[in-house]
Amino acid sequence: MTERPDAPRILVFAGSARSGSFNKRLARLAAESIEAAGGRPTFIDLRDHPMPLYDGDFEATQGLPENALVLRRGLAEHDGLLIASPEYNGFITPLLKNTIDWLSRPHEGVSGLKAFEGKLAAVVSASPGGLGGMRSLALARQLLTNIGVTVLPDQLAVARAVDAFDDAGGLRDAAQAEKLDAICRRLVDTLARLKA
Ligand SMILES: Cc1cc2nc3c(=O)[nH]c(=O)nc-3n(C[C@H](O)[C@H](O)[C@H](O)COP(=O)(O)O)c2cc1C
Repeated sequence: MTERPDAPRILVFAGSARSGSFNKRLARLAAESIEAAGGRPTFIDLRDHPMPLYDGDFEATQGLPENALVLRRGLAEHDGLLIASPEYNGFITPLLKNTIDWLSRPHEGVSGLKAFEGKLAAVVSASPGGLGGMRSLALARQLLTNIGVTVLPDQLAVARAVDAFDDAGGLRDAAQAEKLDAICRRLVDTLARLKA
């Protein structure tokens, strides 16, 4: 599809820094799908944006980590978000929570929540387990809602992720691939309508 000048910009990332991360694979696929749907995705790897564990004393003495400010500026340039959320003990990962916690903090008199305000998001997950990380999706959804992000009802949890991807990084299961495309299309179409 030809990119429109007003194509919705969507920030795409996974809540895992692991080099072989299934959720990064899923996020990359989603970025391709967003582009095919006429959106402008930006895939980022949280491995490239390390931040210390949130600590109020660090914040009081040193302010926000530079990477939190970089990500926040990046987020402000986007209309929406797509997050691939791994599941740790039924929860979202500390990496995802920590990243969002830092981004949500005030800086130079501006609320961190401003960067999230009015954004639309979609959440997906992948796990070697049988539920595909589905429990983390409910919590990712709740977290995003708490900071003012509207989350699409559609979601995808890719179970048995070890076998779910082919050598080219695509999803082997056609129904899952179509579901991911449908989520990305809905994200792009809804954002385009909101922008119009
Ligand atoms: C501390 C920890 C807890 C985990 N708990 C769960 C879990 O509750 N449910 C699940 O499906 N997988 C669980 N896993 C397995 C992860 O889904 C698996 O490591 C997955 O590959 C992580 O995502 P990634 O591939 O994107 O890094 C857990 C892994 C770790 C390290």
